[in-house]
Amino acid sequence: MSAIIIDGKAIANTVCQRVEKQVKEFKQQIGREPGLAVIQVGEDPASQIYVCNKRVRCRELGILSFALDLPANTTEADLLALVEKLNCDPQVDGILVQLPLPKQISADKIIRAIDPGKDVDGFHPYNMGSLFIGNPRLVPCTPLGIMELIYSTGVDIKGKKAVIVGRSNIVGKPITMLLLQEHATVTLCHSRTQDLAAECRTADILVVAVGQKFCVPGDWIKPQAIVIDVGMNRDESGLCGDVAFQQAKERAAFITPVPGGVGPTTIAMLMSNTLKAAQLREGRKQA
Ligand code: GUN
Repeated sequence: MSAIIIDGKAIANTVCQRVEKQVKEFKQQIGREPGLAVIQVGEDPASQIYVCNKRVRCRELGILSFALDLPANTTEADLLALVEKLNCDPQVDGILVQLPLPKQISADKIIRAIDPGKDVDGFHPYNMGSLFIGNPRLVPCTPLGIMELIYSTGVDIKGKKAVIVGRSNIVGKPITMLLLQEHATVTLCHSRTQDLAAECRTADILVVAVGQKFCVPGDWIKPQAIVIDVGMNRDESGLCGDVAFQQAKERAAFITPVPGGVGPTTIAMLMSNTLKAAQLREGRKQA
């Protein structure tokens, strides 16, 4: 029997409806909208699409969107000065610097400069560290979205074997922590893993975030697994994921499509994080 296709767009819309309602309540109580500043340096075409989608979603939900587009030759000092200015701007609750950055700018330095309370990407060492000690504050959006996709299946995560492929700071490491918090037994695999096929074949929950077209073939999928494909690979025929979808869906119980799986939920969780940052900031002020 073919897998159920997890509808990321529908799940994202449900999250956004909740955020929209809470944004209205926030505005009534506090007298202003939550604000998100999205900075893009240069003109990477994929980044331009992501950034545009983020700004459109903000406007749909009543979140103030500050668009800051800087030229590709921006210096690290200039970007640091902009981040500092936004850290102090009372209208700005969230600051997102779209990655990757041009090579003259250290992403690590920029991320460390963002006020952790405005770090809606959850990439600052304070937020990463909070997640790793089991006391999450602002958590990275893609892993948060993946958890929504897994929750939507109704499958109990506790005690399940989860296998993650890809050890990035944006996806692999934080999703490991979120699944651990839900009491899964988690294995984090990467390019040096000795027998990746054997690891994947043990996975009740398989999350693949590598960025290589079809690097997980269908026969690596454990029958009845949940498969989350984070890949976004462009080729002649359009977008495709990291998992060989057509074969994998014949073995899995649930699988995400590309596009229409993880992507929409990432943006929805960014909206949710912006609202959360605004609520935390105002709570602190009132206290
Ligand atoms: N580039 C790819 N994914 C992301 C993300 O989640 N946040 C930012 N800031 N840049 C990205």
